[in-house]
Amino acid sequence: MRASKVLLTFDIVTLMPEMFSAISDYGVTGRAFKENIVNLNLWNPREFSMDLHKTVDDRTYGGGPGMLMMANPLVEAIEAAKVRQSNLGIKSSKVIHMTPRGKLLSHNEVKRLLSCKGIVIISSRYEGIDERVNDWIDEEISIGDYVLSGGELAAMTMMDCLIRQLPGVLNDDESATQDSFVDGLLDHSHFTRPEVFKDMKVPEVLLSGNHEKIRLWRLKESLKLTLKKRPDLLAQKLLTKEETRLLKEIQIEQEQGSI
Ligand code: ADE
Repeated sequence: MRASKVLLTFDIVTLMPEMFSAISDYGVTGRAFKENIVNLNLWNPREFSMDLHKTVDDRTYGGGPGMLMMANPLVEAIEAAKVRQSNLGIKSSKVIHMTPRGKLLSHNEVKRLLSCKGIVIISSRYEGIDERVNDWIDEEISIGDYVLSGGELAAMTMMDCLIRQLPGVLNDDESATQDSFVDGLLDHSHFTRPEVFKDMKVPEVLLSGNHEKIRLWRLKESLKLTLKKRPDLLAQKLLTKEETRLLKEIQIEQEQGSI
């Protein structure tokens, strides 16, 4: 195991801590935990419940369907998590609640959160949390305009996005610098062996060995894909001269019906 400094510390408040083995034990993120680039501790609010039955949820005042996570066990768990982070020398940990009413997660949000050394994430269940817990929360983040049964999958989604951006997590072949969204465009298409699959040939240029031609083809493909699938991204992007020229070529090709 490579000795390395922990770059990001996570403390997760969750009623389902077992779910987090999905991120800590597998793949690229599992490797980052094993190599100690990231550190994780799980806090179950049930362990902070004061009553015999370890109750963590209750009905909402005013009536209505569903249960809410009670304030006290949650706040105690958040405070314990913050104490652990402070004992690790982390000066300012951010407390984030995963909730559909939060700010939408994007590549830019991920980059912003990478300035944190420690993050406490609350993964809520049921209909959500008692509103008063918000005094202990710095940010609310959503992973999309839909409702999950709990914040655990949302928390792991955000953690995965953060972890893969940390230096030393991805090797050269896996580099995150070429991911979709990094430069405001979707990633280009990729091909692997065989050269011909059911009469479909790999584009000739990719076999040419000409790096400049390949770079240009890939950039043009990225522009084409983004124009077709996510025109909203292109509308927000400041294009380079080269990208503007390629986009004009694409538009002419489209008008001529060649693509
Ligand atoms: N919890 C439930 N749904 C969620 C969502 N879309 N994003 C973040 N947390 C959630």
